[in-house]
Amino acid sequence: MFTPSLLKDRVALVTGGGTGIGLAIAKRLGELGASVAFGSRNAEHLEQGSADLRHAGLDPLAVQVDVRNPEQVDEMVQRVIRHFGRVDILVNNAAGNFISRAEALSPNGWDAVIGIVLNGSFYCSRAVGRHMIERGAGGSIVSILANYVWTGSPGTIHSAAAKAGVMSMTQTLAVEWAKHKIRVNAVAPGPIESPGAARQLWNSPDAVARITQMVPLKRWGQPSEVADAVAFLVSEHAGFITGEILTIDGGAWLGRGTFGFVE
Ligand code: HXC
Ligand code: NAP
Repeated sequence: MFTPSLLKDRVALVTGGGTGIGLAIAKRLGELGASVAFGSRNAEHLEQGSADLRHAGLDPLAVQVDVRNPEQVDEMVQRVIRHFGRVDILVNNAAGNFISRAEALSPNGWDAVIGIVLNGSFYCSRAVGRHMIERGAGGSIVSILANYVWTGSPGTIHSAAAKAGVMSMTQTLAVEWAKHKIRVNAVAPGPIESPGAARQLWNSPDAVARITQMVPLKRWGQPSEVADAVAFLVSEHAGFITGEILTIDGGAWLGRGTFGFVE
């Protein structure tokens, strides 16, 4: 199914594509033939991400952007269009997160996460969607959520609310833009090994052990496993799938049942 020419002649833009899961997605889409652009704030992430992608044989375009700023987002999309001629695939991957009790969270802390995840995903979808509609050749958008869209997430209320908002945006755009042949989907990962998330959310061996125990498959996911799911969703193999949320979490969000069959 994943032939090396699966995404040939397609142009993909991945936000937050210089690190972690976003980098794995950019790499996977590039390996499958897409031209790849990514956006990020931090110069070091732009440089290191570009170097990693070049090492994989790709020729990426790296654009400095804060997705909270709609003008910067519009400019990023225009740069990608000037460079590669168009955008066929958008992956809303950029995110911010940290642990805080809800009652201790400051308005700025709330705004920082809502701004990156919810507003940023909308600004990017709007800019790329306008381009896709004008071009008339369709396209595909995938947003990276988290498995706690199904449950809420005590300790990260800002991220849980923002990701649930992006889930609703996904379902809404899937219907609104279907007539333009734009498919809009999302993936909802559980614990995935990624240094950025580890710094913010599970910075101790105890936390890592506790989280591993919560996953029925008793392991963490790899960024490449999220990337494979995104590659499937943006490909022709998922041509009739839109408005879908694909959970990638080793069963972590499901209940444990009533009868004690779970270690
Ligand atoms: C409490 C915090 C805080 C913390 C920041 N703030 N970190 N409050 N605990 N650990 C507060 C600040 O005090 C400030 O409020 C406000 O948030 C904005 O902080 P800044 O540092 O000025 O924001 P900024 O530089 O814009 O950075 C945004 C950020 C940062 C979200 C705070 O962490 C970031 O850039 N993160 C990007 C990388 C990241 O988070 N990756 C993890 C994704 S993992 P005051 O009131 O003091 O001004 C993920 C996985 C989830 O999402 C799923 C797991 C299953
Ligand atoms: P990460 O490496 O910290 O990725 C976050 C990326 O977003 C960084 O590259 C960061 O780059 C970029 N970013 C943050 N704020 C930005 C802004 N304002 N403008 C532009 N880019 C911005 O962590 P990750 O684990 O790979 O997370 C990637 C995605 O997976 C996120 O959507 C996250 O919520 C989701 N996810 C992760 C897990 C997990 O277990 N790791 C689980 C579920 C969901 P800059 O700092 O350079 O801007």
